[in-house]
Order: sequence, then structure tokens, then C-alpha cells
Amino acid sequence: MTEAATRNSRRFCILTWGCQMNAHDSDRMAALLASLGFARAEAPAEADVVILNTCHIREHATEKVFSELGRLRRLKRERAAAGQRMILAVAGCVAQAEGEMIRERAPYVDLVLGPQALQRLPAMLAAVENGGAAVETEFLTEEKFDLLPLPEANGLTAFLTVQEGCDKFCHFCVVPYTRGAERSRDLAAVVADARALLRGGVREITLLGQNVNAWHGAGEDGRPARFASLLAALCALPELWRLRYTTSHPRDLDDALIAAHGSLPKLMPYLHLPVQSGSDRILGAMGRKHTAAEYLRRVQKLRRARPDIALSSDFIVGYPGETAQDFAATMALVREVEFAQAYSFKYSPRPGTPAASAPEQVEAAEKDARLQELQALLGEQQRAFNRATVGCAVPVLFTGPGRHAGQVSGRTPWLQAVHLQGPESLIGTETVARITAAGANSLAATLPAQERASA
Ligand code: 5AD
Ligand code: SF4
Repeated sequence: MTEAATRNSRRFCILTWGCQMNAHDSDRMAALLASLGFARAEAPAEADVVILNTCHIREHATEKVFSELGRLRRLKRERAAAGQRMILAVAGCVAQAEGEMIRERAPYVDLVLGPQALQRLPAMLAAVENGGAAVETEFLTEEKFDLLPLPEANGLTAFLTVQEGCDKFCHFCVVPYTRGAERSRDLAAVVADARALLRGGVREITLLGQNVNAWHGAGEDGRPARFASLLAALCALPELWRLRYTTSHPRDLDDALIAAHGSLPKLMPYLHLPVQSGSDRILGAMGRKHTAAEYLRRVQKLRRARPDIALSSDFIVGYPGETAQDFAATMALVREVEFAQAYSFKYSPRPGTPAASAPEQVEAAEKDARLQELQALLGEQQRAFNRATVGCAVPVLFTGPGRHAGQVSGRTPWLQAVHLQGPESLIGTETVARITAAGANSLAATLPAQERASA
């Protein structure tokens, strides 16, 4: 596109909250808008179409959306005063769950679009331009990912959606309501997308799904297949170097999947396996349908299959009815597993979920104290995990320039960020580096050759 064409074309800006799934939806919407001739704007002030791709998982996330909407309303007014039109859209999980409320609280929003209806964006924009307001929060039955263009591969790593939605209905969670019932894409469609990404230069793929290991799409013979067979089919693609997946549920970590972690070298030794709590009483109340001991048994089996596997998890503290003893059980589970990384949250009641109306809500101060205690332990474990790699030679997939001049950066198999003083020619390679120092969130490394040179 010429510079003049870029200047003249209409521009969009997408602000994204929430999980990787949502970030990926933003990439898909961006690809769709680009296919309609829109150019990307750096900031809402320069855009003709502003999309807020929202998250509803915790109250905090929802409130941020409304405060951003307040800011954008002023911008929209200023633009209107200058005779320019700005279309304001709310997409994502808040749009899905609170579509009506958005229309009431923020009537200046032109377009409300649930996560299952992204493919309707062009038609909805046209409707708005013709003077209407548009709302689409149906769970459309057509396969959204087969209808949206793939985002252009612009690097070595990419996400690929294989499954969406959730049928587990954990009692704290809005996902089954915002993302709908569990749906798996067919193996052939996933493999075709993977091939397209690999042709574009991608070398590491992360399979995405709210419940990714519950995948049960049609396999090569047309019958529902298991997630392990999808992993095997993808690992057989020669251009693929690394495969990951997120996020998984312990109940769907079956023996075939555990065995795949042992037998597929391209499947990276890092697994995000949310446990939420270490107390059987709370796990039961949450409707997780497994005990702490069952979680620990699966972790043990995984470690037997792939001894260097690193684990990451999600935790909720202050779930309704959680006692000091229940919380102590969570701390004990964390000490037993030793996580490489984890996310932890205070329980946040979500409208329409069973736990929100449970009578024994935990005091805010108690939630704060528990979260602090848990995060201190998890932080210690993360630092210990990173420190343990110091002195080791590890393969790093170098994906881009580092933060400082002369630096390149990449990731270890265990998803740790690595920064290294080295030539740009490393970008696009998987090269063994020696880890020299560890911080809380990244590692420093040198090339073995540099080591020899300076010895
Ligand atoms: N309150 C707090 N945390 C929550 N999560 C999901 N729902 C809630 C809630 N209502 C956390 C869980 C989940 C992660 C994505 O967000 O830990 O695994
Ligand atoms: Fe947030 Fe869940 Fe929606 Fe992701 S799926 S954006 S975590 S509410």
C-alpha cells in the first residue's frame, strides 16, 4: 500500500483485556478489518473505529472497561465537534454478558459484539454506518474460526485456536456463559491452519482453548479424536519446532496426554494446569470434580513421563466458605508441587454464577492477607526455578531484538524469557545458550562460543 493510500484509508484501534484467547480474537478482528481495507491506528485518537475487546472474568476487569468507555466518550464528542465520526464498539466477554447494561450505561456505544460473533463485524459496521446501532450476542452455530482470515504470521510464534467454550461450569466462573458450550475444531482444519502458519515462518505454535485438553474434534477418520492425537499430528509437521497448549483442566489430563508429554519431544516441557485450591472441601464447593490428591497424582505421573516438565497454575483465594484451614491446604499443595510460575486471584463474585450468591463470603481483608501470603510463596518458587537454570546450557528460540542495543531475546523450553548480548542473526534460530543470571521474570545468557572467547 502506498503512503498516500495508508493515510487515506480508514483506521481502527483495538484495546484488549483478558486472556490469550481474547488477545487472539483481537488479532483475528484486526486481520478482518485489514481485509476490508482498514489501516491500524496507534491510538484511539487517530482511529475511525475503536473496539474494546473486554474481559469479564473478575469485577476489576469489567470496571476498567467502563472507565475506558468514559474516556472514549469524551474523545468521540470532540471528534463529532470536528465533524468526524468515531464508531465505538464493545466486543468480548463483557459485551456478551452485559450487552444490555452497556446499552443502558453507555448509550454512545455503537456496536456490541459477543466473542462468538466476530465474523459479523463487517455487516455490523455497515449497519452502524447506515445509521443504526448493532448488537450481536448470539452464539452463532457457524464456525467463527473457519470464517475469519488467519492473522498474518509476523513472527516465529503464533497462537492457534482449537477449542472454545466450556461445559464444566465451575461455580465461580463466567466463561461458560460468555464463551458458550464447548466446541472443538476438526483435526484437518487445525492442521491446515498450522501449515499456513508454518509457511509464514512460524516455528512455535501454542494451541488455545478455554479447556484446550477437552478437545475432541473429528480426527482423520471423521470420528471424535483425543487431544493427544491432535498433538501427535501437529508434531509430525517438519517445520514445527515447538508446540505448547493452554489452558487445561486437570480432569482432562488423561493418560494418553500424559504419555504424549513423554513421547513428543517437540511438545515443550511446560504445562499450565490450574488447580485453584488445595482443599478438597473448597474444590468440591467450586465444582472442580477432582481432589487435591488426584491433582498431585497427575502431576507425579507427568513428571515420570517427562522429568523436566515445569508446572504453572491458577489459584483463587477467599472462595466463599474458605477457612484458614482450607487456605493452609492450598499452601501445602503449593509447597508439594513447586510451581515454576503461577497466577493467583482474590475470589470475585460474578453475576449469574452459583458462588456469587453463596452466603459465606470471605472478608476483603482476609482475602488480601491470604493472597499476599500465597503470592510470596509462589514468587519464591518462581525465583528458585529460574535460579536453578543458572549455569545450564539450554536451547533458546530467539524471536526478536532485546530491550537494549545489541541484545536479542527469546524463550527457553520452560517459557522463561532470555536476554542475550549477541548478533541479530540469532533471531529465527533455536540456539543453545548458557544461562548466566536469573531475575524474577527473565534470564540473562551468553553463547557458549562467547564464553570460550572470553575465557
Ligand atoms: N474470581 C477470581 N478468580 C477467578 N478466575 C476465574 N473466575 C474467577 C472469579 N470469579 C480465575 C481462575 C481461572 C483464571 C482464568 O481466573 O483462577 O483459572
Ligand atoms: Fe476474560 Fe474469560 Fe473472556 Fe478470557 S474467556 S476474556 S478470561 S472472561
